[in-house]
Amino acid sequence: MRLDKFFSEMGLLSRKECAATVKRGRINVDGKPALRADVHIDPEKNIITLDGEVVGYERFFYIMLDKPAGVLSATEDKRQTTVLDLLDDRHRKLELFPCGRLDKDTTGFLLMTNDGDLAHKLLSPRYHVEKTYAYTLRDPLTVSEAQRIEQGVDIGEKNITAPATVEMTDPYTGLITITEGKFHQIKRMFASVGNEITALRRVRFGGIEIDPELGPGGYRELSDSEIETLISKV
Ligand code: URA
Repeated sequence: MRLDKFFSEMGLLSRKECAATVKRGRINVDGKPALRADVHIDPEKNIITLDGEVVGYERFFYIMLDKPAGVLSATEDKRQTTVLDLLDDRHRKLELFPCGRLDKDTTGFLLMTNDGDLAHKLLSPRYHVEKTYAYTLRDPLTVSEAQRIEQGVDIGEKNITAPATVEMTDPYTGLITITEGKFHQIKRMFASVGNEITALRRVRFGGIEIDPELGPGGYRELSDSEIETLISKV
């Protein structure tokens, strides 16, 4: 891989910036100053440093974002703020995209990655990856309505919804876990028993809890063990 591609893939330097940085002698390959930005390197074998700091190679990035309400789960929009607008300059250069969508008014855990293969699998109905949401309802939910939702309800799709789990905290609030990801799925599931969601927050995705330290709009890269947890689900 070319040295400038390495730096641009890592979101650290554009190709132009890399050429200028090489000229200033700020980049070393295996202890020797790089002479050209287009030199070929093996990111798994060569030690690359920028201003004396080792730059470790990561091919893919995985970010846990606490999506705030009012922001679109998209990579660009002419008028409205998207989740990509919440990232800093470096992370914006990594060509991340949201793994699935949360509605504009839904908050919580949104995975952003540039690992298309893993994202595709996590969203595939084949693997039944669990997503847990904290919900608030307009009207009180009865235990029998919760059971109907758990068993599968008609939301106007070809099939009824797959089995889900509803843990009621009280008649108005609780947690629901689903393994599918149809458009407005949870809102439609509660609508099917005559109710309405007034607040929805994704609190867990693929066995990983949202980090309570993040706060609305906050994000961090997943830890290695969290990435392994995700990979183990597919
Ligand atoms: N179900 C919904 O209705 N909305 C979401 O944002 C996610 C799941």
